[in-house]
Amino acid sequence: MPQAILAIDQGTTSSRAMLFDRAGQVLARAQRELTQHYPQDGWVEHDAEQIWQDTLTVCHEALAQYDGDVAAVGVTNQRETTVIWERASGRPIHHAIVWQDRRTADWCRARHSHDIESWLSQKTGLLLDPYFSATKIAWLLEHIPGARAAAQRGELAFGTIDSWLIWRLTGGRVHATDATNASRTLLYNLSRSDWDNDLLAFFQIPRALLPEIRDCAADYGTTDPALFGRALPIRGVAGDQQAATVGQACFSPGMVKSTYGTGCFMVMNTGEQIVHSKNRLLATLAYRLNGRSTYALEGSIFIAGAAVQWLRDAVKLIGSAAESEQWARAIDSTHGVYLVPAFTGLGAPYWDPRARGAIIGLTRDSGIGEIVRAALESVCYQTRDLLEAMRADGAQLPAALRIDGGMAGNDWVMQFLADLLATPVERPSITETTALGAAYLAGLGAGLYRDLDELAGLWTRQQRFEPTMPAESRQMLYRGWLEAVGRVRSR
Ligand code: G3P
Repeated sequence: MPQAILAIDQGTTSSRAMLFDRAGQVLARAQRELTQHYPQDGWVEHDAEQIWQDTLTVCHEALAQYDGDVAAVGVTNQRETTVIWERASGRPIHHAIVWQDRRTADWCRARHSHDIESWLSQKTGLLLDPYFSATKIAWLLEHIPGARAAAQRGELAFGTIDSWLIWRLTGGRVHATDATNASRTLLYNLSRSDWDNDLLAFFQIPRALLPEIRDCAADYGTTDPALFGRALPIRGVAGDQQAATVGQACFSPGMVKSTYGTGCFMVMNTGEQIVHSKNRLLATLAYRLNGRSTYALEGSIFIAGAAVQWLRDAVKLIGSAAESEQWARAIDSTHGVYLVPAFTGLGAPYWDPRARGAIIGLTRDSGIGEIVRAALESVCYQTRDLLEAMRADGAQLPAALRIDGGMAGNDWVMQFLADLLATPVERPSITETTALGAAYLAGLGAGLYRDLDELAGLWTRQQRFEPTMPAESRQMLYRGWLEAVGRVRSR
């Protein structure tokens, strides 16, 4: 029986466990939906205790489907989401504040200035925005009675979801995070690869709260034997978009992956160079291995698959996500209809939280097909926005865009994407790239793989979509999109 690797993928909407063999084939999987809590407009919380219990359950379910050895455990997670817990009891002091939560928007606005923004961006590669962990930690210390004093006494621990799970998996013995998750907090100095005292002072966060930062393939301790009847070594950790970058084997500078879930996250490997974006993309870590950082440029759009959910659940134009492909294929164009899905504002490169969605260009001939197709096209236009921003930051057009996530299964979208980007789009044989990346990192940490070259050799293509659209049509369609976006922006 070959040795398996257990990957835990704790995402925004679900917690999953998957077992992979050494070649990256899926041996077992289990999943639980996660309850979303919306205590106020713009607030999003998760129950950290539920996250832990669900994770434990899916691990048990996946392990029950396989009776061989497990060589290592890898953890990947929704990034930025913030938990603070008591070191003595292991109890969270509050619900986790989720990355989407906007409660600290005023805090950010009050402190925002050109100088602060460029100081933060220089150190962290990020922006002063509620998205990242620092202002969420500050909010908890401010609003939970006694929290600040307890934090100063070293009685509390902060973690993104990786740290929280590692703490619980190791029975409270390890308080650690990996460098990619640390790089999303606004407290990590990208070039020095460590927590930054100036940033801690700015956000008034005591250092005693913070986990130790380790490489993505490293020793994170072993699981408490009481949990799975044996001690499993935890050897790989990365934030989910970084894990997907590893799963997609984007190991050379210029390689790009795009993950289509609720939103879309595009990550370009920039090698040893930190590219400080002039176009409001993020400079971040791709991975850190053997103490060496590989950097990335990242662009995120908030609504991708969620636009299809909206068509299905809110306006009920389609009965299932799969139906959208038939509607799009049934017509030859939207005839000038654009749907801008700015339901929660616009992400990169616009960062306009007050923009709202719109359907533009309707005529008496417009029907369900035009609207459904416009929603699918919007995902591709937004991807082009990200790629244009990367090019404006000096990047070359990639040789191909590697795609994954739910929408990657929609052939019509993938072809339109290739056409609109004038770049081939490649779908891998295994589209579970986030969990796969965590498994690969754990395999590296456990010595099952030699190096990244060996992992790159495991990547196989299931399908490649070649651009065929004439350049003129591409430009005309994209111009129409930019005009439509211009009409929904708040400034
Ligand atoms: O930055 C947030 C991202 O890591 C969340 O990803 O897939 O859980 O929505 P996902």
